[in-house]
Amino acid sequence: MAKKKIAVLTSGGDAPGMNAVVRSVVRAGIARDMQVFGVYRGYNGLLNGDVKELNLRSVSDIIGNGGTMLYTARSEEYNTPEGVQKAADYCKNNGITGVVVIGGDGSFRGARDLTNAGVNCIGIPGTIDNDIACSEYTIGFDTAMNTAVEMIDKIRDTAQSHDRCSVVEVMGRRCGDIALQVGIACGATAILVPEVKYDIERDVISRIIETQKTGKQHFIVVVAEGVGGAADLASYIEKRLKIESRATILGHVQRGGRPSLRDRVIASEMGYKAVELLSEGAGNRVIAMQNGKIVDFDITEALNMPRVFDKHLFDIARTISI
Ligand code: F6P
Repeated sequence: MAKKKIAVLTSGGDAPGMNAVVRSVVRAGIARDMQVFGVYRGYNGLLNGDVKELNLRSVSDIIGNGGTMLYTARSEEYNTPEGVQKAADYCKNNGITGVVVIGGDGSFRGARDLTNAGVNCIGIPGTIDNDIACSEYTIGFDTAMNTAVEMIDKIRDTAQSHDRCSVVEVMGRRCGDIALQVGIACGATAILVPEVKYDIERDVISRIIETQKTGKQHFIVVVAEGVGGAADLASYIEKRLKIESRATILGHVQRGGRPSLRDRVIASEMGYKAVELLSEGAGNRVIAMQNGKIVDFDITEALNMPRVFDKHLFDIARTISI
C-alpha cells in the first residue's frame, strides 16, 4: 500500500522553536510509516511547488537552531480563493493528504481554508507573541522573553551607572504578555500593556516619584509594542522629572537565537500530536496548551475564542516592582 504523504510548513513571523517542530513532525511521521515533505516559504511553497521530501537526517542538528529551515513568508496570493484552490490542487495532484502549519492566527485561517478545500490541516502555535487565544503558550515565547531579559539586564547596568531612566519597548504585536513577564523579571518600575488602560501620570510618573522617595535612582520602564511610543515617553519623563532618559526598541533580536529548553520540548510534543491527529484522519484542528497539557481544538472555534490577559500577574507586578 502507498505510504500516506503529509507536509509541514512555517508561516508568518519566524519564532525560535519552529525547527524543533519541523524535526518532530518529520520524525513522528516517518515513525508512522508516512512520507513527510517540507514546504518552503510558507503557503507560497504550495503555490509554486517548492516542496521537498525530508528524511530523518534532513532534520539532524536543527533542534537548537533559531529561525526556520523551511523559511517563512506571508503570502498575498494564497490569501485569495484562487490561491487556496491552487494550493489544494498541488496537494491533491501530489498525493499530500495532510499539512501541518506552524504559525499564528493568520496562518490558521489559511489552514482552515485549505482543510475546507479538501486537504486536512493541523495548526501549531508558533509565534513569540503568545497571542493565540486557545493556547496558554506559543512556541518561541520563552526564548524571546529570555532574550529580552538578557538585553534589559545589560541596559540596567548602564542606566544604573548614569542614574537614568530607560524606556524599553518589547515585541508582542497587540499582546502584552512579553512586556508583562519581562517587566516582572527585570524589576521594571512601570509596565504598560495594551490590555490595561493606563495613565502616564499615575502609572509611570507617580511610580517613579514614589520609588525616588525610597532611594531609587535608576528606572526601567517596559512598554509593549501594542502601546508603543517609547521615544516620546522617554522625552516626557526627562522633561517632567529632570531624569536623563533613553529609549530602546529591542525589535527583531527577540525573534532570533537558540530556542530555550521549554520551546524545544513543547515544540517536540506539539509536532508529535499534530502527526497523530493527521494519522487519525483529523483536519481543521489547532494544537494548544491548556493547564500544561497538549490538547487540540477546532480551528474555527479557536479563532473565535477571546484572549484572556493575566490581570492577577499584572497586579502582582504593580505591587512588588516598586
Ligand atoms: O508576530 C511576531 C512579531 O515579531 C510581532 O511581535 C511584531 O509585531 C511583528 O512580528 C513584526 O513583524 P515583521 O517581522 O514583519 O517586522
